[in-house]
Amino acid sequence: MRAVAKQRLPQPIFDFIDGAAEDEHTLKQNESAFDDWAILPRPLNGAGTRDLSTELLGHQLRSPVLIGPTGLAGLFWPQGEVAAARAAAQRGTVYCLSHGSVCTLEQLAQAHEGPRWMQVFIYKDRGFTRELADRARAAGYQGLILTIDNQLIGKRERDLANGFAIPPRFGPSQWLAFAQKSAWWWSMRHELPRITFGNYVRESSPESVSGLAGRMASLLDPAMNWGDVDMLRKHWSGPLILKGVLHPDDASEAVRRGVDAVIVSNHGGRQVDGALASVRALPGVAEAVAGRIPVLLDGGIRRGSDIFKALALGAHAVLIGRPHLWGLAAAGQPGVEAVLDILVSELDRTMGLAGATDLDAIRQGDFLA
Ligand SMILES: Cc1cc2nc3c(=O)[nH]c(=O)nc-3n(C[C@H](O)[C@H](O)[C@H](O)COP(=O)(O)O)c2cc1C
Repeated sequence: MRAVAKQRLPQPIFDFIDGAAEDEHTLKQNESAFDDWAILPRPLNGAGTRDLSTELLGHQLRSPVLIGPTGLAGLFWPQGEVAAARAAAQRGTVYCLSHGSVCTLEQLAQAHEGPRWMQVFIYKDRGFTRELADRARAAGYQGLILTIDNQLIGKRERDLANGFAIPPRFGPSQWLAFAQKSAWWWSMRHELPRITFGNYVRESSPESVSGLAGRMASLLDPAMNWGDVDMLRKHWSGPLILKGVLHPDDASEAVRRGVDAVIVSNHGGRQVDGALASVRALPGVAEAVAGRIPVLLDGGIRRGSDIFKALALGAHAVLIGRPHLWGLAAAGQPGVEAVLDILVSELDRTMGLAGATDLDAIRQGDFLA
């Protein structure tokens, strides 16, 4: 899927998905750190049929693979967020909408039936964070994700070299790169003039893309702190999920402050290069949380066996970022469905071979060395 996405997308756009901060060490380690553990199969456990379903924050999911929030999905495929969310619904799992979706959160909700969570940041204007939460509640989002590792924007050198800004501003070199990918360009020709961060645009005072780009970095607040988690906890009565937790003490603090789940994540290596690989942070967080709330993991999930290892290390479920975007860029909704199918069938096969009949068996089965 990655190869097809690379072939189909203009290079600056492929790099925006694929790239990470600075030397991309953390991105690489997110993937390679899964090799630090090996699976010890127990073939005589009798795992002739496997149950991959799980209950998570009130949702009954068909598998433990969720789609994580990723900005600008509508740049990779026409109405990309809707296509990816429908794929998630088809496969019985949660779709997380990014703050930075091209469509508005209301447009997604109208086009999607299935479990969905909304992702927000802490803005200098706390009222704007609350406003997004209110809009998400009104539009039927069941969970709210607060991402805590994006208070400044990471130094993504591929984007800098390509002149790729967030949200995008298209200059001559971008148009040249676009023209070289005719299938993508043709499918996106009506969408391109409207690409922006849909949730930020106020109908009463429509803002140009370049105006918005100038304002974006200044909206985020690097001074955010635990008081803001308390503020959101008071404001949002449904499940509140903290994304970007790596330190065990932060996980304990999140539990203490009434957060309903944590996502062990380093933003796919896009923020602090040199941050700990997320799967390596997982055991410490799982130990600190001690089963009081679900612990989720994202970063570097590329195989069903990675999911198996994450669950064996204490994760309740995992999220995928880039893999679903590769599927989306390759083929839209069916592409995302195919990515989910590949991962889930690999997980099922690994469970059958390792001797785990369900996800609890993975968590309790002493399968790792
Ligand atoms: C193109 C792209 C955009 C992203 N945008 C967001 C975002 O808007 N909000 C957020 O919380 N995380 C965002 N992320 C991070 C993902 O949610 C997730 O943490 C990361 O992609 C997981 O790593 P993986 O790509 O190896 O699966 C983005 C990731 C990518 C690749």
